[in-house]
Amino acid sequence: MKMDYTAKMLRDDALKGKTIVVTGGGSGLGKAMTTYFLELGANVVITSRNIEKLHTVKEELEAATGGKVLPVQCDVRNYDEVEAMVAASVKEFGKVDVLLNNAAGNFISPTERLSANAFDTIIDIVLKGTKNCTLAFGKYWIEKKETNKTVLNIVTTYAFTGSAYVVPSATAKAGVLAMTRSLAVEWAKYGIRFNAIAPGPFPTKGAWDRLLPGDLKEKFDPAKKVPVKRVGEHQELANLAAYLVSDFSAYINGEVVVIDGGEWLKGAGQMNLLEEVPQQMWDMLEAMIREKKKN
Ligand code: HXC
Ligand code: NAP
Repeated sequence: MKMDYTAKMLRDDALKGKTIVVTGGGSGLGKAMTTYFLELGANVVITSRNIEKLHTVKEELEAATGGKVLPVQCDVRNYDEVEAMVAASVKEFGKVDVLLNNAAGNFISPTERLSANAFDTIIDIVLKGTKNCTLAFGKYWIEKKETNKTVLNIVTTYAFTGSAYVVPSATAKAGVLAMTRSLAVEWAKYGIRFNAIAPGPFPTKGAWDRLLPGDLKEKFDPAKKVPVKRVGEHQELANLAAYLVSDFSAYINGEVVVIDGGEWLKGAGQMNLLEEVPQQMWDMLEAMIREKKKN
């Protein structure tokens, strides 16, 4: 078997006996992580607004993995629907061990073009949705005195840097990161761990349609911004997520793991653009610098 970042990393049955709720589990990265969790022996509840899509994905993934999938329609913006989703998950599997807050909304726009409702829509899906799911499962686990639970939140690297043209998303993801770190401390006493993953560019239809529409994909090829010169493979994100929700990571709490090939640091380092300088020019530049020392 090929042993690289496209390979499946954890041992068989690493998640056996666990029940994992993946919000937005019917598409993109949520579906990729769901697939791997099933392969590792977990039961998975996939939730989103589109129940037909979830049923189709259930059929596909159960056939492919032999695992058990429960599709639940749930708009994470509505606390009532989230509470019903918690109840449906517990009814089906008896317990839930992991909440993966993956559902998101986003699109590029100059901020001054956004209506108040457009801004709210993104904050509501990303920040309020993560809060709704976290609060509903947290209250349930604490009340039932169930321990060894994990919440994994998908943020992005602009949660710490901010980013122009996706301001509602950056604002909301920064809030999710603060929630992750805050509850990692506050709810550790209840046996609940909190971590986050900050992915760089991982091609998905949902993200690419809204962040790189039309020929923006060619104009702003995301691979070019990444020091390792490629975009992410879904399996390498799934490997990281599976580790962070497994019991192997029991001592990791309050962490945000960046998986972006160095992309955000490339944008941050003040002299990083010197990569553009051709090799043969460095002799001349060095000579110029050394010359100055004599003055
Ligand atoms: C300006 C827009 C707009 C746009 C919608 N609106 N699209 N404003 N430019 N392109 C406005 C609408 O006019 C409306 O405001 C308000 O936003 C809500 O729009 P609705 O269509 O009613 O909302 P809704 O049906 O809830 O859909 C939410 C959505 C949609 C976010 C707009 O795109 C969606 O369902 N997205 C889910 C999947 C997704 O976004 N995936 C990408 C995740 S990528 P008014 O004032 O007219 O009522 C990601 C990557 C992070 O997060 C990091 C990458 C590096
Ligand atoms: P995606 O396929 O569009 O995933 C978003 C998911 O969220 C969809 O399944 C969608 O399902 C669900 N969703 C949206 N609004 C919802 C709501 N109100 N209630 C419930 N579910 C809702 O995009 P993706 O690229 O896989 O993104 C997954 C996660 O990775 C997101 O948190 C995103 O911010 C993060 N991320 C992605 C990248 C990347 O390069 N792809 C980079 C950094 C971070 P429905 O439409 O059926 O509701």
